[in-house]
Amino acid sequence: MAVIQVEKLRKEFKRNKSREGLWNNVKGLVYREYETKTAVDDISFTIDKGEIVGYIGPNGAGKSTSIKMLVGILVPTSGRVIVNGIEPYKNRELNAMRIGAVFGQKTQLWWDTPVIDSLRLMRYLYDIPTARFNENMERFTDILGLDEFKHVAVRQLSLGQRMRADLCAALLHDPDIIYLDEPTIGLDVVVKEKIRNFILEIN
Ligand SMILES: Nc1ncnc2c1ncn2[C@@H]1O[C@H](COP(=O)(O)OP(=O)(O)OP(=O)(O)O)[C@@H](O)[C@H]1O
Ligand SMILES: [Mg+2]
Repeated sequence: MAVIQVEKLRKEFKRNKSREGLWNNVKGLVYREYETKTAVDDISFTIDKGEIVGYIGPNGAGKSTSIKMLVGILVPTSGRVIVNGIEPYKNRELNAMRIGAVFGQKTQLWWDTPVIDSLRLMRYLYDIPTARFNENMERFTDILGLDEFKHVAVRQLSLGQRMRADLCAALLHDPDIIYLDEPTIGLDVVVKEKIRNFILEIN
């Protein structure tokens, strides 16, 4: 059975109709008008164990929105998502234990905390056995070159350094599935290549 099954998945966003002019904006405080934006338009696909799949489309095509439904952050308007036999948004915690996610635009690390402390916190969040944690840390530190900045606060990292730390954080608990939304944003060509090889290797 496929690890990820997506059937006629749809997401519509309701948003306030934009208005021009002061009077129209004042009127808008009383009479709200909404418009519906279809962000994901009845898509279907399946992904099997061991597959590495790229997801492409122009800006605004609905890529991030569909990933958010896969990880369980957003509730689909209609259609179905089944990941490892469960519906992510209905079983968010169970789903979260089995997946890793990196959103290039955001970090899941603690902003004012040194990288290494953020990573240690992941160990408690995911209840990772110590031996496993140490083994993974050693491996990822080496491949992702974390040594040069692991004692620096996350807010002081360069974009590429932060991405490397985020990748490490997403993988420490040995997830079955990883979702990467623009994970190589801001990385130099050498690191991009390293990360692609790294993904092939862990897969
Ligand atoms: N929270 C939201 N409320 C309203 N509309 C939204 C929301 N999030 C996304 N959209 C709209 O849904 C559409 C799809 O957005 P999405 O972020 O999924 O695109 P994307 O394919 O990831 O684009 P990009 O390549 O720029 O990252 C866009 O038109 C966007 O304006
Ligand atoms: Mg996006």
